[in-house]
Amino acid sequence: MNKLFISNWKMNLTLAEGISFSNEISRTINKSIINGNIEIVICPPFISIPNCFQVLKSVAKIGAQDVSSMHDAKGAYTGEISAKMISDYADYVIIGHSERRINLKETNHDVSLKGINVIKNNMIPILCIGETETQRDSGEYISVLLNQLRESSKGFEKNMIVAYEPIWAIGSGNSCKTAQIIEISKQVKSSYGDETPFIYGGSVNEDNCKEILDQKEIDGVLVGSASLSLDSFSKMISLIDSE
Ligand code: 13P
Repeated sequence: MNKLFISNWKMNLTLAEGISFSNEISRTINKSIINGNIEIVICPPFISIPNCFQVLKSVAKIGAQDVSSMHDAKGAYTGEISAKMISDYADYVIIGHSERRINLKETNHDVSLKGINVIKNNMIPILCIGETETQRDSGEYISVLLNQLRESSKGFEKNMIVAYEPIWAIGSGNSCKTAQIIEISKQVKSSYGDETPFIYGGSVNEDNCKEILDQKEIDGVLVGSASLSLDSFSKMISLIDSE
């Protein structure tokens, strides 16, 4: 399969800024000679998705950062955005990000309902799992991760991308070591099948992106802050490009 380069903008960039940044990254991607073995996915905030889709559609796919668990299409759910609404633009949806599990108290059950709604609308869920620093230090991280994955993926186990994002690595500048990422990939693929895409996120940047993407056990990267700087984004793309 193609390797995935997924950019998560989180709660950054206004609509005007998002359009302008999309134009810049579209020029960067156009200039590169990515030889068809990388899929670039951009995940803007909901409000910017339709406009960014128009700018990016010839060079990248769109992902949403979340989706409603309440219903896959419509209903009296104030403030919610359904998978059906997103599906006009997006091919992917991030679910179960630790920032939502922690800040909004999302449970594994909520995440599983979201994944089912994503699948019903013919998109692919990018299911995030990750352990805290304490859980890693205790040595119990593998069972923590596999339990999170089993509970969160109920109903769409055969149809997901697993994104390993250790909580201690996100936004810390302290990426997981490649060998540690491979250890988790092997665990996931031995439980869910070799064909289950496994990607990594957590302080991915121009210094470590290529090494991570070069591993056969790792099918892609999920990048936050480094992908919001045009300079770092361009550097990462040109490294991929120089394959
Ligand atoms: P950073 O790349 O900023 O560490 O964020 C990773 C992440 O949470 C992507 O979803």
